[in-house]
Amino acid sequence: MKIELNQNKVFYNNGSEKKEIHPFWLRERVNGEEYLDKGTQQRLFDPTSLNSNISINKANINEKYLEIDFNDGVTSKLEIDKIALEFSKEDIVIKSIEKTKWDAGLKNIKNFQYQDNFYESKEMHDLLVSFYKYGFVIIKNIPTSKNYIVEFANSIGSVRRTNFGEYFNVKSKPDPNDLAYTSLALAPHTDNPYRNPVPCIQLLHCIESKVSGGLSSLVDGYTVTEELRRKFPEFYDILTEVKVRFKFVDKEVILENISPLIELDDDKSFKQVRFSPRLDYVPILDKEKLDLYYQARKKLSDMYNSEKYKIEFKLEPEDLIMMDNHRLLHGRTSYETKQGERFLQGCYIDFDSTEGKLRHLKRKFNL
Ligand SMILES: [Fe+2]
Repeated sequence: MKIELNQNKVFYNNGSEKKEIHPFWLRERVNGEEYLDKGTQQRLFDPTSLNSNISINKANINEKYLEIDFNDGVTSKLEIDKIALEFSKEDIVIKSIEKTKWDAGLKNIKNFQYQDNFYESKEMHDLLVSFYKYGFVIIKNIPTSKNYIVEFANSIGSVRRTNFGEYFNVKSKPDPNDLAYTSLALAPHTDNPYRNPVPCIQLLHCIESKVSGGLSSLVDGYTVTEELRRKFPEFYDILTEVKVRFKFVDKEVILENISPLIELDDDKSFKQVRFSPRLDYVPILDKEKLDLYYQARKKLSDMYNSEKYKIEFKLEPEDLIMMDNHRLLHGRTSYETKQGERFLQGCYIDFDSTEGKLRHLKRKFNL
């Protein structure tokens, strides 16, 4: 992208088109000490209180900088590279990490090792990149005392507290308010589809595992969605279109969220999956439409539960898994409580945590 000038007007030229940049857009970005706080990069003025008739008296390109005198007496020197960055519609840090689709054949994925200064290390940067590629990452050697998972979560971002608490203990218990707290097998599902917004990332930390079952399973909802779109477009269309009611009820709260099983972004690309067939209630639609919906949901469920897409592994004590709850489905095999304890601790964090940390580490290591 190039910046060009013509008679006190500033243009951007991306090779295929040339358009004028609004003078007010440039005026909002003045960055002298009196206009922008150096530390926070926050404006020291309110652009909504400026005169809207801003124009340019003089503009000049000086190597890497665009120098402008505005008609309200303010002068500014803007970095051309920074202006160019703003023409990318997407978040260049996160969206530039391409998702790797995976299925049961996934092999040789790197596990990370917890170490001193972990949260500020280059290793943490690489971990987060891997997380965005695959939708999950496993970290070994995480301390297991004093609910360390909370410190882990808060060292990347902030714990997203829910009605299950700041963190939750996953072990079988009497009178459970969720099947997670039994020793039953759990089919692949996403967590908490009844919340708005749905928690983005689930952390699960294995504290104890003295049982032979209780294997963890993961399915890439992105892979399955793409396959559904390719092979069964009618099913894909109805599952992206129909919004269903997800509901959670216990003695203290009733949570509800009405959303599709497959949610797309504004540009129709993959955004999020929700799947928890014990909790979803489709609205009353025309019988023919419901026919199609039920066939589509059955197909999707068969795919999610198929061995073709699932990886299964055992979490060992001190292992912590971080998984994208908007992309992956997780489950577990059943286990026998007589054999001993199976004890995991879990909590949620949101994407602003991982995104913020990743941008920070990129800046720190100049990557
Ligand atoms: Fe779960």
